[in-house]
Amino acid sequence: MINVALPKGRLGEKAYETLAAAGYDCPAILEKNRKLTFENAANGVRYFWVKPSDVSIYVERGAADVGIAGKDILLEYSPDVYELLDLKIGACRMCVAGPEDFYDETDRTLRVATKFPHIAAGYYESKSRDIDIIHLNGSIELAPILGLSDVIVDIVETGKTLAENHLAPLETIVDISARLISNKVSYQFKYQEILRMRQALERNL
Ligand code: PRP
Repeated sequence: MINVALPKGRLGEKAYETLAAAGYDCPAILEKNRKLTFENAANGVRYFWVKPSDVSIYVERGAADVGIAGKDILLEYSPDVYELLDLKIGACRMCVAGPEDFYDETDRTLRVATKFPHIAAGYYESKSRDIDIIHLNGSIELAPILGLSDVIVDIVETGKTLAENHLAPLETIVDISARLISNKVSYQFKYQEILRMRQALERNL
């Protein structure tokens, strides 16, 4: 049995469709209920729904053998896991965004609101720009609107959230997509099963 951590939400649903198409379907997962684990003994797979930012924790600690995690989560938390495959789903980019007419006065510390403090710190360190990080957990776009920050570092997918709040992407930090990750011990002990899953997913890209 391979234990698979899926990120709850839109990305997880897409990820499940991708796995199902590769031969790892589990019809029980489509039932409308509040269960969090589903298995299909026939193809040797057990799925769990977890919070997207927790997928790498389940996989790193071996509670799940593999998982689907956004590259944003992997860059932010640097979990000790193997990254096996870019699934090419959930494509978006990590951006600096701010007011459309933003001008960076470099003699002042830049206030940056974000859910991704490590990515933001690394990016500005590489530019030797002094920043003050404001670590928020959601609705990041509000920060520059209310004057809490000058800019934000956040995920941009369609750009709609920014546009509707009169903000614009200013710089792209890195392209993001979903990755298949594996626990390091599982990768040895369930090598054949995990390899088969990786190859089936790769064939369907
Ligand atoms: C992400 C991100 C933006 C939005 C961007 O939020 O933080 O707010 O999606 O998407 P768009 O460019 O297509 O408008 P998410 O939906 O993950 O919610 P959260 O902020 O509560 O995590």
